[in-house]
Amino acid sequence: MADQVAIVTGASRGIGFAIAQRFVAQGAKVCITGRDADALDAAVKELGGPEVALGVAGKGDNPDHRAAVIDTVTDRFGTITTLINNIGINPAYGPLATLDLGAARKMAEVNLIGTLGWVQEALRGGLGSAGGSIVNISSVSGVRPAPGIGFYGTTKAALIHLTEELAIELAPKIRVNAVAPAVVKTRFASALYEGREEQVAATYPLARLGNTDDVAGTVAFLCSADAAWITGQTIVLDGGITLTGNVQ
Ligand SMILES: NC(=O)c1ccc[n+]([C@@H]2O[C@H](COP(=O)([O-])OP(=O)(O)OC[C@H]3O[C@@H](n4cnc5c(N)ncnc54)[C@H](OP(=O)(O)O)[C@@H]3O)[C@@H](O)[C@H]2O)c1
Repeated sequence: MADQVAIVTGASRGIGFAIAQRFVAQGAKVCITGRDADALDAAVKELGGPEVALGVAGKGDNPDHRAAVIDTVTDRFGTITTLINNIGINPAYGPLATLDLGAARKMAEVNLIGTLGWVQEALRGGLGSAGGSIVNISSVSGVRPAPGIGFYGTTKAALIHLTEELAIELAPKIRVNAVAPAVVKTRFASALYEGREEQVAATYPLARLGNTDDVAGTVAFLCSADAAWITGQTIVLDGGITLTGNVQ
């Protein structure tokens, strides 16, 4: 990935950070984002410092932040080749029938509209002028119904469709793919397994939950020359759980 300049949104920890680590290990220059500037500074240090990584703090659904990220990366590392849309929020748990519409609107804004905003900004910044790829981080809850997190899943299902639409629109210069993980051990998903990991893992055919490297490896593959003929696809990363009819 030595010729790649990548943006990984929401990458001070968790899945995004693992993706950034993998990219740097394979020679890419990486910009990571997140709301907490101190956490980003620490993450940049851990990635290898300013020669290879850069952090820009801000909210993913803020258009000014998105524009600032694109301009900063281009100035520092050159033309953007790779965009990983990893930011996703799930602030509500419960039935759709009583879901607070403000929370629904926020999820749509951050998970879906924000993702399109990142794509538009990256295009403005030159993504595609030297080839490129985009990977959107969806979820198995966007592939199968997941009661309790139904609207989050709806935004993640929309991301899969957005991936397909963009794949057609941006071809042949830019490939656009997605991954749809089941439970991956991060802060975001901790409520789904903490204190009962063995029990939850036992419901997975592969008998364990996901780790962040499971996702990072597939994302790196999708951004590599080995995936040069793959676009518009969503790779389900789930230890086999969706085969059983469950997603949580
Ligand atoms: N973990 C899972 O089981 C799982 C499964 C399927 C899909 N996913 C998806 O994977 C993605 C990453 O999740 P994760 O599990 O790695 O979560 P995580 O460990 O909580 O990390 C989330 C990262 O995103 C940043 N972030 C969160 N909200 C943001 C916002 N509004 N604007 C800017 N940055 C923001 C966080 O930093 P700050 O808090 O400092 O902003 C942090 O760096 C999400 O899209 C999630 O939906 C996760």
